[in-house]
Amino acid sequence: MKTIVVYKSKTGYTKKYAEWIAEELNCDIKENASLADIIGYDMIILGGGVYAGGLNGLKLITKNLDKLSDKKLILFAVGANPGRDKDLIPYWNRLLSEEQQKSMGHFFLRGGFDFSKLKGADKLMMSMIKKHLQKIDDPSDDDKGMLDAYDTPVDFTDKANIKELLEYAKKQM
Ligand SMILES: Cc1cc2nc3c(=O)[nH]c(=O)nc-3n(C[C@H](O)[C@H](O)[C@H](O)COP(=O)(O)O)c2cc1C
Repeated sequence: MKTIVVYKSKTGYTKKYAEWIAEELNCDIKENASLADIIGYDMIILGGGVYAGGLNGLKLITKNLDKLSDKKLILFAVGANPGRDKDLIPYWNRLLSEEQQKSMGHFFLRGGFDFSKLKGADKLMMSMIKKHLQKIDDPSDDDKGMLDAYDTPVDFTDKANIKELLEYAKKQM
């Protein structure tokens, strides 16, 4: 089955997972892909960072669903949060219909956070969040962890996290 991993990555975490997945599946890989880049493949694995509850690059799939109806589609979202069910269930429900969640494999892989690599609107938004976090009287462990990460980048990427996605992909082949 002709397979490609496509991804968008602002600070490198999704890139790392995309490269591990492509390496394990021995398939093609492309950053910032267009429809023309993916249309010739049978299985498309798309990854992107989680930005304010979205999935960077997901539009490539959602805008072209009619043209991709005969493809096996797998998504992976890379976020800094721990990926607890209480967050992930509403996350996927916002991005995909029930039917899409059944037909597309969708996985959350924990990435990291590197403030020093952010630019433009992302940097501005995260600076505002920092100010907000600093004002919290009784910060949670997550709040404290997030504040610390502004000074010291955190990297939770782990090759073991792609195991389930690989198993799912191999079952589709
Ligand atoms: C503006 C902004 C918003 C973010 N929103 C979320 C979020 O809603 N949930 C989450 O888990 N991580 C969030 N993050 C963290 C990124 O998803 C995380 O750094 C991810 O690893 C980035 O992957 P990338 O470098 O491959 O783009 C956000 C980061 C920025 C800069």
